[in-house]
Amino acid sequence: MTAFNATLKDENATVALGQQFAQAIKPPLVVYLNGDLGAGKTTLSRGIIQHLGHIGAVKSPTYALVEPYEINNVDIFHFDLYRVADPEELEYMGIRDYFTDNSICLVEWPENGNGLIPAADVQINIRYQDEQRQITIEAHSDIGQTLVNKLK
Ligand SMILES: Nc1ncnc2c1ncn2[C@@H]1O[C@H](COP(=O)(O)OP(=O)(O)OP(=O)(O)O)[C@@H](O)[C@H]1O
Ligand SMILES: [Mg+2]
Repeated sequence: MTAFNATLKDENATVALGQQFAQAIKPPLVVYLNGDLGAGKTTLSRGIIQHLGHIGAVKSPTYALVEPYEINNVDIFHFDLYRVADPEELEYMGIRDYFTDNSICLVEWPENGNGLIPAADVQINIRYQDEQRQITIEAHSDIGQTLVNKLK
């Protein structure tokens, strides 16, 4: 499986990559977004969701755990599992039901959903590099591979 790498020199570069990513995606798709606090996971998600056609803010779903969007009959679910302390919270919200053939799921802090959320098609890792960021977009399934190929 291949990967796409880039250096993101500022927030605008991250949004722009989100736009490029958005052009390559369709449901079903599961994207894990890994990276430390403030790495840029929500910034990238904003670029993706707004480019898909959402007009308005993309807020961090830290407290709600999930923010739903419906754009052109596609369900976009943006998760932030940072605050999940107990997997039961995820069972209670019926987290598996969000992962359908018609949904694109973007998941920040996926490790907190370990065992309860489907495997990723694509794993995005964002790392601090001084004031910039390094991003890697890895394919983890055939669907992911097709997507990553389009980014190159
Ligand atoms: N290249 C860059 N890409 C993205 N954000 C950057 C970059 N350089 C600086 N920033 C800043 O880093 C912050 C990224 O915040 P963001 O909410 O996207 O992070 P996050 O990974 O979602 O964090 P959290 O784990 O808290 O949800 C913003 O304040 C943004 O302005
Ligand atoms: Mg975030």
